Amino acid sequence: MRRKLVAGNWKMHGTRESAEQLVAGILAVFPAHCDVAVFPPYPYLAPLIARNGGALDFGAQDCSEHDDGAYTGEVSAAMVRDIGCRYVLAGHSERRQYHHEGDAQVARKVGKALEHDLVPVLCVGESLEEHDAGRTAEVVQRQLGTVIDHCGIAAFGRVIVAYEPVWAIGTGRTASPGKAQEVHALLRSQLARADDKIASSTRILYGGSVKPGNAAELFAQPDVDGGLIGGASLKAADFLAICAAVC
Ligand code: PGA
Repeated sequence: MRRKLVAGNWKMHGTRESAEQLVAGILAVFPAHCDVAVFPPYPYLAPLIARNGGALDFGAQDCSEHDDGAYTGEVSAAMVRDIGCRYVLAGHSERRQYHHEGDAQVARKVGKALEHDLVPVLCVGESLEEHDAGRTAEVVQRQLGTVIDHCGIAAFGRVIVAYEPVWAIGTGRTASPGKAQEVHALLRSQLARADDKIASSTRILYGGSVKPGNAAELFAQPDVDGGLIGGASLKAADFLAICAAVC
């Protein structure tokens, strides 16, 4: 049985004060029936972990593909681990879109995260154009396949996958539960072709306009193992309501 995970990706939102309040709000009603993690902006990670690290899991929104060196603005997987993060996102669509991260680079980031004992959350998903052209399966399988090729299937004993259709992120449009299930099942069968046992244990999250009102139906799908939540993770009450939707 795969334990569900609800992860809050705060993106570039908030202040130190609002970050502290959000964590306090989550911890006040801590959901114990599922795994919970938050991904605050980099500057707030270390102080939040120092104060709350034992009570809540934290993740970084990205890490470098390099170990160390002259890479201004980058943060290494070792640094992210060093401050106490458990998770790191890799290949979020906003990184792919605005920072031109390609499949191979994302795969290298997943590799670095694994090397440094982090749990990578590999984001895959098709753009609106690709969706409308009926290319969803091809795109997500290519994105996942590149990481399987680079890291090996055994890595998916640890790697978490997040299916996030780009047209659903921050738009208020959500993949229907049936459509999400279809893509999740497709991804799991791709993993199963390489290793059946690992595929049945890999967690595949759904992300893209998950809200308190639609979370339960999405999470009830057999291959949806939780959610990666953007906008609705910025209010403790909404995030907790989404956690409560995990049955
Ligand atoms: P959203 O973002 O919930 O605001 O659509 C999801 C994400 O980008 O991870």
